[in-house]
Amino acid sequence: MTTPVIVVGVTGSIAAYKSPALIRLLTEAGHSVRAVPTAAALNFVGAATLEALTGFPVATDVFADASGVDHIALAADAAAVVVAPASADFLARYAAGQAGDLLTATLLATKAPVIVAPAMHTAMLEHPATRANLAVLGERGVVILDSPAGRLTGADSGSGRMLEPPAIMAAVETAIGPGDLVGKTVLVSAGGTREPLDPVRYLGNRSSGKQGLAVAQAARRRGAAVTLVAANVELAPPDGAEVVAVGTAQELREAMVRRAPTADLIVMAAAVADFRPAQTASDKIKRAGLTGQTLELVATPDILAALVAERRSGQVIVGFAAETGDDRASALEHAAAKARHKGADLTVANVVAGGAVFGADTTEAVLLDRSGSEIGRVTGSKLAVADALLDAALNI
Ligand code: CTP
Repeated sequence: MTTPVIVVGVTGSIAAYKSPALIRLLTEAGHSVRAVPTAAALNFVGAATLEALTGFPVATDVFADASGVDHIALAADAAAVVVAPASADFLARYAAGQAGDLLTATLLATKAPVIVAPAMHTAMLEHPATRANLAVLGERGVVILDSPAGRLTGADSGSGRMLEPPAIMAAVETAIGPGDLVGKTVLVSAGGTREPLDPVRYLGNRSSGKQGLAVAQAARRRGAAVTLVAANVELAPPDGAEVVAVGTAQELREAMVRRAPTADLIVMAAAVADFRPAQTASDKIKRAGLTGQTLELVATPDILAALVAERRSGQVIVGFAAETGDDRASALEHAAAKARHKGADLTVANVVAGGAVFGADTTEAVLLDRSGSEIGRVTGSKLAVADALLDAALNI
């Protein structure tokens, strides 16, 4: 495996004079950096400067030195691509999916996180075309950094200045993650099982799979090898995760139990049906002649319990508890009781009253240890909950 590199794209904006400072910060922090300027960028910063600072040849054209600076190899080796400064023209070409130069071709081929630091005159930044391009890129997961207000190139002032190199560097380090799960294997279940009643109907639940996917994504970003066992998840899995698609609780159990022995961390984020129909009709159940129908249900296996029973030493197991309060106890008290009797090392408690949490992008979670005591609380995105869960798991 080649060493991951940080690709620094430099485009045609006066702020390109600050790109060497960013490259210097990155190399001083121990990163291997490749600079990819556009032709326009070379009006502001010399190729010799970029080559001297990175120690690698610099090209702008896909065909210039196809063997020395290969966009596919750059794209594959990139731990992150940061474009600083990102000019209006570059953003338009990137948003349109163009690949006419080495930088846009690399961006089109990479699966690494991408960060752009726009820098241009306020009028260009505020133009609906630029705003639309930034919106498109943001929707695709590109991290768009602020363009703070201040003195512009001419006499006027306004927003559109490139963020300072230390702030861009911090964004790059956030995007590549701390690497604290390198060498670890993480097994995550996500989604909700469906227990078939007949060929067209099932008993299911409202889990979207977002929380499990966020755990897989965060673990990938932090360097883990990730296997995602996805029960009826319609959302795209994170890049680089091995995905095993399952339908029922029984299939989920088999997939998890088979892979558990090699996992360092197991996260049971899937919502598993507790019961399934005792019989699955092979033909569609007909309405004609029936005034009612009683379903006989049988319990499904408790997968978390099976994993805990087989836990090997050093392995960490995380369970979830989606709870509502009732007249016996609060949601959190129920979650604490579940943490104690299920035996997971860590339990992530969600309060689901009123259907909150399911399908939502933000959530509130309470982290409980094996004794049911609160060890942390997170409000925010499911990714924030995922990172907090991974932090806590690493401390067990
Ligand atoms: N779980 C499991 N196998 C099941 C049911 C649940 O592995 N058959 C796991 C879930 O993935 C979750 C944890 O157990 O990590 C708690 O799930 P939850 O549905 O909250 O609890 P249950 O054990 O089903 O208890 P109850 O529904 O009675 O609250």
